[in-house]
Amino acid sequence: MKIGSVDLVSPLAIAPMAGMTDTAFRRLVKRHGGCGLVVTEMVSAEGLVRGIDRTLEYAEYTEEERPISIQIFGGDPGKMAAAAQVVEGMGADIVDVNMGCPVPKIAKHNAGCSLMREPDHAAAVIGAMAKSVTIPVTVKMRAGWNDDERNAPTLARMVRDAGAAAIAVHGRTAAQSYSGMADWDLVAKIAADMDIPVFGSGDCVEPEQIVERLRSGVGGVLVGRGVLRNPWILAQAVDLANGRPVRPVTLEDRGRFLLDYIDLLLHERVDETRALTHDRWVINKLRALASWYTKGLDNGSHLRTAINTIDSLASLRDTIGAFFFADELATL
Ligand SMILES: Cc1cc2nc3c(=O)[nH]c(=O)nc-3n(C[C@H](O)[C@H](O)[C@H](O)COP(=O)(O)O)c2cc1C
Repeated sequence: MKIGSVDLVSPLAIAPMAGMTDTAFRRLVKRHGGCGLVVTEMVSAEGLVRGIDRTLEYAEYTEEERPISIQIFGGDPGKMAAAAQVVEGMGADIVDVNMGCPVPKIAKHNAGCSLMREPDHAAAVIGAMAKSVTIPVTVKMRAGWNDDERNAPTLARMVRDAGAAAIAVHGRTAAQSYSGMADWDLVAKIAADMDIPVFGSGDCVEPEQIVERLRSGVGGVLVGRGVLRNPWILAQAVDLANGRPVRPVTLEDRGRFLLDYIDLLLHERVDETRALTHDRWVINKLRALASWYTKGLDNGSHLRTAINTIDSLASLRDTIGAFFFADELATL
């Protein structure tokens, strides 16, 4: 599959998730295979244009993540075009526009999902961006603002006509936030209507569900929370799609992933002017991931509580070791 001139080796991608899909996490998922595209956490267009350090940190990526899409949010066509140029200047392969975020802090600034309420304006944003850069401009939207305004099919056509090279649809409305289920029939309908790739997003937590969605006619699938619970899910879905048995993931593999994540985070550049020490920042990152990663694990809630109460990297590593490697140690 291709987005503009960008080749994807797999139609499966890690969905953008603020606070979660940092460069370290994306690299680790990518190393396990099956992942054709990674998208950064959403990044403020305003912050990019003004060169704010913290914003630039969110947009950082490494070569091994390519192809990489940087997702930006904002509502002013001129500023979004300027931000797209910054993204292109940073060497990203794709610039994605957030039209799905329902959080009032973002939506009230005429950005995120509130752009869906003003389709002409949303199309003007994409038009301005597409004229300003040569990399593909893509859009991630929801089904609509609420049940009375499920306008994703119309908006998808409008942004395509304005120059969008691909579209992703999370099949919930902003009003739904994360309640109910994503409407994949709507996503398939939009995909059938479009001559550019359409990705669907929502509720794939098992590799079988990803394959089923792919076979429903969408061009690709963005997986969010399923990757946070199981970073091997994309590789497992590719196994299934190719008729191979799903690769097993052992408890030790899961423990190793967390230890590798800690090691990569320790090498990240973080803004030391922030009040947190680097260790504290790493611990907070692990806490955030653990709230998803421990779901469905035997005794996962105990691990989650333990990680939420530890206060040093040494005890974080010990806690992970005791939980994931206890059987291995017992056989020594
Ligand atoms: C913690 C979290 C943060 C998210 N942040 C973003 C974001 O920055 N940009 C975006 O377009 N979507 C964001 N999303 C939405 C996801 O990309 C995805 O569309 C949604 O979670 C549904 O897919 P899933 O059921 O596979 O998680 C976020 C979701 C979660 C759970």
